[in-house]
Amino acid sequence: MDKIIINGGKKLRGEVKISGSKNAALPILFAALLTDEPVTITNVPSLADIDTTLAFLNFIGKTAVKKGGTVKTLASKNYKHIAPYDLVRKMRASVLIMGPLLARLNKVDVSLPGGCAIGARPIDIHLDAFRQLGANIEVESGYVKTAAEKGLFGANINFRFPSVGATENIMLAAVLAKGKTKIINAAKEPEIADMADMLNKMGAKVSGAGTKTITIEGVEKLHGCTHRVIPDRIEAATYLIAAAITKGSVVLKDVVPEHLKAVSGKLKKCGMSIKETKNSVSAKWVKDLKPCDISTEVYPGFPTDVQAQWMALMCILKGKSCVKENVFENRFLHVAELQRLGADLAVDGKFVNIKGVEKLSGAPVMVSDLRAGAALVLAGLAAEGKSTVNRIYHLDRGYESLEKKLKKLGADIKRTRT
Ligand code: EPZ
Repeated sequence: MDKIIINGGKKLRGEVKISGSKNAALPILFAALLTDEPVTITNVPSLADIDTTLAFLNFIGKTAVKKGGTVKTLASKNYKHIAPYDLVRKMRASVLIMGPLLARLNKVDVSLPGGCAIGARPIDIHLDAFRQLGANIEVESGYVKTAAEKGLFGANINFRFPSVGATENIMLAAVLAKGKTKIINAAKEPEIADMADMLNKMGAKVSGAGTKTITIEGVEKLHGCTHRVIPDRIEAATYLIAAAITKGSVVLKDVVPEHLKAVSGKLKKCGMSIKETKNSVSAKWVKDLKPCDISTEVYPGFPTDVQAQWMALMCILKGKSCVKENVFENRFLHVAELQRLGADLAVDGKFVNIKGVEKLSGAPVMVSDLRAGAALVLAGLAAEGKSTVNRIYHLDRGYESLEKKLKKLGADIKRTRT
């Protein structure tokens, strides 16, 4: 398995181009199933999760080919309606196959997604909503069997929690349902608005995406389109923190500054100099930073996907701070590994209490999930001496050319194949 070796202590300086958003590209790729006409999607990042999704589409019967950052999907043969365990277990977002296949075939059998490193991650909100659209659901022998013999009918659906995936799944089903669907307490993440933009280019009638109430007027058919994926705000936030933790100065190109406000605002509060233009954000270390507490929230609050990276930064800032994780029930797997680098952390339920230390010392560490891995790389960049980051396949799921981009910014980092 590949590993990343870092000799810490180098200040990062320079420009980095942020890639297309993984969490926008995934639902957008599944949306291509809603039409038999060709769809072209650009600014698609080269990531393991994208490859998994393309394999999934091709398995179902939708030819999808990626060349560089562009994915072209062609006319489809008749789709399979079964999503097997060996595909679903690789990526939780596979559950997004349900909406489009219910809309097109009125049935879909999906293997239960299974737990993952960040908690059980049930899909009850998705399933309750599909029932309200007229689907019957049975769970047997590890599969969720969903069918709507009479087709799907619009409904007013109240989410008990603004689930990102459930919001996307219901939108993907409702665009071809009979009548109007309203999602109340919908997730407001920018990736949802990006998918809605693409659906409307295909002839759908979606309004309110990005707010807590989304309305979808069902239509008969959707046509092809071309769509560019928005920049990845989580990758961008990770590089802002990389600048802070190495006392460097980094300019992020091709970002939407508005999408980064929760993180850039906190970094400003810590003492980083942050400057924005229409499509760039620069972060410059100008003085010793003060620690700042965070509490993760749904968008536009502080993103749970940046919690681990933030914790890595807090580990080396003089003073105390606290991180509260409100979105997932078990997203502290990076704590034990950060402690191996010398961090002073104490987990207390949803909280982690942090006491800043003078320095971290390089050591071998193990990645448990995508964002925990990012946190360990950031800590390695700041630590004295050599860190070896193992199981970096988790990182390949969500960070395009991570070590190349960091090396270009001056990090002493290399990837070894073992
Ligand atoms: C999306 O996951 C993202 N993934 C996650 O990013 C992100 O952490 C998450 O949204 C929150 O922002 C993609 O977009 C592909 P949720 P999703 O449904 O849709 C509970 C990354 O690192 N819940 O909003 O799975 C769930 O257990 C990944 O890029 C239910 O209880 O997130 C969790 O505690 C990690 N029942 C909370 O809601 C449900 O039916 C948030 O989940 C659905 C969710």
